[in-house]
Amino acid sequence: ISSLEVDLSGVEEGSTITVKWRGKPVFIRHRTDAEIQESAEVALSELRDQQKDVDRAINPKYLVVVGICTHLGCVPIGGAGNYNGWFCPCHGSHYDISGRIREGPAPYNLEVPEYKFIDEKKIIIG
Ligand code: FES
Repeated sequence: ISSLEVDLSGVEEGSTITVKWRGKPVFIRHRTDAEIQESAEVALSELRDQQKDVDRAINPKYLVVVGICTHLGCVPIGGAGNYNGWFCPCHGSHYDISGRIREGPAPYNLEVPEYKFIDEKKIIIG
């Protein structure tokens, strides 16, 4: 019951869906090649919470993150902010397209939930 199967086949490249998992929003973005490249090229030294994109996305085409700001728990807005990712309007945290905190008060990156691919276009979260 705590796991959620999500079919990604209808998620167009460049778009994001939000699903509910254990009462929390989870953002799933089908990233473009440019977004994947941009995420890979960020130097770890530029990051507050230093995680490589490759360690956050099992398949770089799909970013799966819990949609809860790590500052005080608001839901960030997609396609906004200074880093082409998400922006939390509550106190101004900017996340990049890997869900990593880049600017503002949030201490950590958006959490990557436990998930796995069960086939090319299907994941199970939890
Ligand atoms: Fe997101 Fe404070 S809750 S910046």
